[in-house]
Amino acid sequence: MPARAWALSEWALLPLRVFLGVTFAFAGLQKLADPSFFRSTSPSSIEAQMAGAARFSPIHSLLHAMLPHAVLIGWVIAYGELAIGLGTLLGLKTRIAATAGAFLSFNLFLAVSFHSKPYFTGADIVFLFAWLPLIIAGGGSRLSADAMISRAAAKQAGVASSPLVAIPFDNVQTWCGNFNKGHCKALANRPCSAAHCPVLQHRPQVTPVAIKTFDRRTVVIGSTTVAVVAGAAAVTGYLTTAVGHLEASAVSGEKSTTSSTLAGGGAGANAGTGTTKGTLLGPATSVPVGSAANFTIPSSGDPGIVVQLTKGTFVGYDAVCPHAGCQVGYAPSAKMLVCPCHGSEFLVATGQVISGPAPHGLTPLTIVESANGNLYLQ
Ligand code: FES
Repeated sequence: MPARAWALSEWALLPLRVFLGVTFAFAGLQKLADPSFFRSTSPSSIEAQMAGAARFSPIHSLLHAMLPHAVLIGWVIAYGELAIGLGTLLGLKTRIAATAGAFLSFNLFLAVSFHSKPYFTGADIVFLFAWLPLIIAGGGSRLSADAMISRAAAKQAGVASSPLVAIPFDNVQTWCGNFNKGHCKALANRPCSAAHCPVLQHRPQVTPVAIKTFDRRTVVIGSTTVAVVAGAAAVTGYLTTAVGHLEASAVSGEKSTTSSTLAGGGAGANAGTGTTKGTLLGPATSVPVGSAANFTIPSSGDPGIVVQLTKGTFVGYDAVCPHAGCQVGYAPSAKMLVCPCHGSEFLVATGQVISGPAPHGLTPLTIVESANGNLYLQ
């Protein structure tokens, strides 16, 4: 390998480390800063997301079983992502951080993005494979806390090696090579030996005591560094959570959703009578123009949503987001249906997806208003 390429290869993993580190640390802080993530009554809470994901996921039984512990799992995920991100970014215990990152990505793939079509449009499977180089090769030797700890421990144990220098192999052959039956022509046919070669050295003998000292110093310096970084992460997480609570009480979201609930629908709902057939949802006056109401779709048990666009014009949808199953809500200020989990947005008039990770639009429902002013689901 040319010397320049060899030198550059030491930097090869750094961009991946920075990207994964920043992304996971940001994801963790974002969750810690969002009080609604931990509030089970919120549609964007970890509990709502797990319940939504359980609708489609191949591990739905496991997700259902974990639902009662959703808040605890939310804290573990948030602090776990922060720890994984910091470890990767700093190159500290990189293989452990990368293994934890791959484990988390694999579980998110099963829970959330298993049904992405084509498969490569789901981010989690890409993250899973992005972790593999760091599991295999570690964090590399550049800007890496692991490498610095190892160098410091080696220095303290007196086993530090001199830095590697790239020398073109042609030069080595000219000075030391042309081996011929144990003799080197380049050394005037003297026996081949590193001692006679100006670019090769015998490495000093490393004693078992020195190796023990090196191992001990690695553990001490490594544990101290991990403790300091963990303490800094805990303080950062706590401050982020506190600032998030303060901001949440002061700011109302531009795309906050609002809707009432219709008493009709549900498994026991009656079929309509007279000329209007279908499931009675409730009086149309419960859904004023420009507002929305929720109900339960009897055939599936899914949440439904109805919006009165203009006087007498109602649209209805299955409110389950096609991305990972969270319940969408109506944002009157933006005139859109919005998913609180990962931000997919849908046109209220058609249900078509206009942004976000949802692979397709919402399933439309037929809502009609009867002559006596009631809404029916057909
Ligand atoms: S569940 Fe992910 S965007 Fe809706």
